[in-house]
Amino acid sequence: MSIQSKMIVDKDFKLAEVDPRLYGSFIEHLGRAVYGGIYEPGHPTADANGFRGDALQAIRALRVPIIRYPGGNFVSGYNWEDGVGPKENRKRSLELAWWTTETNQVGTNEFADWAKLAGSEVMMAVNLGTRGIDAARNLVEYCNHPSGSYWSDLRISHGYQAPHNFRTWCLGNEMDGPWQIGAKTAVEYGRLANETAKAMRWVDPSLELVACGSSGSSMSTFAEWEATVLDLTYDNVDFLSLHTYYNNNNGDTANFLASSLDMDQFIDSVAAVCDYIKAKKKSKKKIYLSLDEWNVWKTQGTSRAQQHWEIAPPEFEDVYNLEDALVVGCCLISLLKHADRVKMACIAQLINVIAPIMTENGGPLWLQTTYYPYMHASIYGRGTVLHPLITSPKYDSKDFTDVPYLEAVSVYNEEMNEVTVFAVNRHLREGLELTVDLRSFGTVEVIQHTILEHEDLQAANTRSNPANVLPHNRGKAAADGGRVSALLPAASWNVIRLRVNG
Ligand code: AHR
Repeated sequence: MSIQSKMIVDKDFKLAEVDPRLYGSFIEHLGRAVYGGIYEPGHPTADANGFRGDALQAIRALRVPIIRYPGGNFVSGYNWEDGVGPKENRKRSLELAWWTTETNQVGTNEFADWAKLAGSEVMMAVNLGTRGIDAARNLVEYCNHPSGSYWSDLRISHGYQAPHNFRTWCLGNEMDGPWQIGAKTAVEYGRLANETAKAMRWVDPSLELVACGSSGSSMSTFAEWEATVLDLTYDNVDFLSLHTYYNNNNGDTANFLASSLDMDQFIDSVAAVCDYIKAKKKSKKKIYLSLDEWNVWKTQGTSRAQQHWEIAPPEFEDVYNLEDALVVGCCLISLLKHADRVKMACIAQLINVIAPIMTENGGPLWLQTTYYPYMHASIYGRGTVLHPLITSPKYDSKDFTDVPYLEAVSVYNEEMNEVTVFAVNRHLREGLELTVDLRSFGTVEVIQHTILEHEDLQAANTRSNPANVLPHNRGKAAADGGRVSALLPAASWNVIRLRVNG
């Protein structure tokens, strides 16, 4: 049996150009993300600098436009000076965010080198936990000033004649969280972020700056934090950050699959707070949103006390199954539906730590289920988002009402004459008939209908079974003039690529 749904896609109903940075990611000095993930000297695929070739290949295939670094909670205790200069002189530090030993063998310059190889920009974060204005402005000078000053000349002496020219910078991380080293009240943080932003911009006026929003919408200070921080920083920042993670630890799949409705609501609420401050200040400036940590995260809450100052212990190595991939797909659709306001987003994280890519130290690499929707959106979701006009049957779950079985959005790539429809069928047992009315495009052709599905929602890819859940191109979307019909299998992620007349 199947149920019916409909979508109208009109090229005149433009929502927004997709900022490619919507498909960003995150690599923190946490677990085996850096050491054992992107960097493992001696690994059979490693280059002369110790960067794993298999990891680079898997990351390049995702076309990740920007990667946040070096944290996360890690950045709030990080002394960036410990990670530059000759490697043999770098000190080992006790790392208080995750209670590990940081060897500092990878630091700012190595990450810049690696990001270049990966084809990604770096989104740098400065430490506003234990440090402040001085360390931040010095880091900007070290990274971005051409030469002729102490910090820029130090970079040159470290072998980096050309500045890195990092453009996007986070002013700290989750400063509202009691777990954060140097956590602050909204007023303390807002004042510090504003003064730090001014000094950083006086070193390099081209910077784009992200102020910390709440570390989640469930924080008791949520919304008030955003309002206070923006009130204190409005003229000196460009973005406000949002962080959100979901899981199905209660085993309620219908409810879990509706998680992206929470993301929709979160984005709308933060945008409303930004606009409230805009109105209050009678400002012309619009603050954009950076959803710079989002994902499914099941193993949250590992205690610091379980660590014994190990070097790069495995941490948060979540195994993602099909239902997790569907939620990631729905979240990507949510980001696209808000592309007019969300200009940057980072799936957290990229490798080995709550990540689409996994490696074994000294061993192989494999791709988790979540890799595929992320890759599809990053490759085919570039262009203009068209307003999703959707008719779908709905259901209620524990936390949500009116959850549409069809979650979908379309992106028009004018250069390629392509429209791509991304769609999830949330129904767990029934196929969903989808009719797409592309009225303004004339006659269209189906290029490909890709599906990620599996009879077992818990099916995952693992080291021993890396190809258990793979997308296939056997979807049967069919075009008839300006209409496309497709059957979206129960609990599936779909990518329908269409050739259109411009
Ligand atoms: O992504 C893992 C952690 O989650 C980050 O370090 C922190 O910012 C968040 O709480």
